[in-house]
Amino acid sequence: MSEICTISRRVTFAASYRYWLPELSEAENWQRFGIAARAPGSTFTLWVQVRGPVDDHGMVANLSTTIKRTLQREVLQPLHGAYLNDVWPEFANTLPSSEFVAIALWQRLAPCWAAQQIALSHIQLSPDASLVVDYRGQDMEADLTIHTHFSAAHRLSLPSLTLQQNSEIYGKCARPSGHGHNYKLWVTVRGPIHPRTGMVIELNQLRELVDQEIIDHLDHTFLNQDIPAFEAIVPTAENIAIYIRDRLLQPIQELGVQLVKIRLDETDNNSCEVYVDSSMNCADPSPSMSAAIATQPAQPCR
Ligand code: NI
Repeated sequence: MSEICTISRRVTFAASYRYWLPELSEAENWQRFGIAARAPGSTFTLWVQVRGPVDDHGMVANLSTTIKRTLQREVLQPLHGAYLNDVWPEFANTLPSSEFVAIALWQRLAPCWAAQQIALSHIQLSPDASLVVDYRGQDMEADLTIHTHFSAAHRLSLPSLTLQQNSEIYGKCARPSGHGHNYKLWVTVRGPIHPRTGMVIELNQLRELVDQEIIDHLDHTFLNQDIPAFEAIVPTAENIAIYIRDRLLQPIQELGVQLVKIRLDETDNNSCEVYVDSSMNCADPSPSMSAAIATQPAQPCR
């Protein structure tokens, strides 16, 4: 019996787009969509992941021929250098948000590969480093991740222990005067995609909420002294991520979407993720898919 594997391929394309709804006033469009109402351009990064049995050639599919050719035909040819609003008919009724572009791509890629027994399992689309969309073929539902950052100081120590005991547990992080980090934060939410805006949530709303609840609250603080919750618990990356998750859970729900995951990077080398649904704690550990390269020829897509 064949092993089942997932493989991924990345492609990038540059495109412009405009978020503008004619039924809204000019002021409302600017207020809701910000700079996206001006028709900005982005270099999009697209990861596609396919899943299936490893064949006699040792591959799920050939990423360098089959998958690459389909991406050139279905993604690069129509989208690279294009104004997205004019590319596909569905963008006349629904804004070409990253969520809706991901769906439009799925609807074109999945049937092509299904005809060759290749199952598309995941599309990840990112217009820039601050936003990632994950779509897994679940009708009009997608995950949206925003990236932000804050700086804070902390000290890792348990009040019940001596300095020596704390130093044995936490190393240099137990030193009495504390130290600082530039924390990188990713917040992932999930929800239905609005049929008119093409969005899970309007970005300004989510960014304002995270700025207000987390960044304004934690930025440039000494966590142990300035944030009451960390008087009783040690502000490790794990505990900070859990604190952020618990603080955002209800307000994000009130915006009409579900909080899925918090990722907090304390340094370039140390990262922590917590999920709202603890059964997902082993899911998809990286915000970017890792590429696998196949070397054997396979059937071309067409
Ligand atoms: Ni530290």
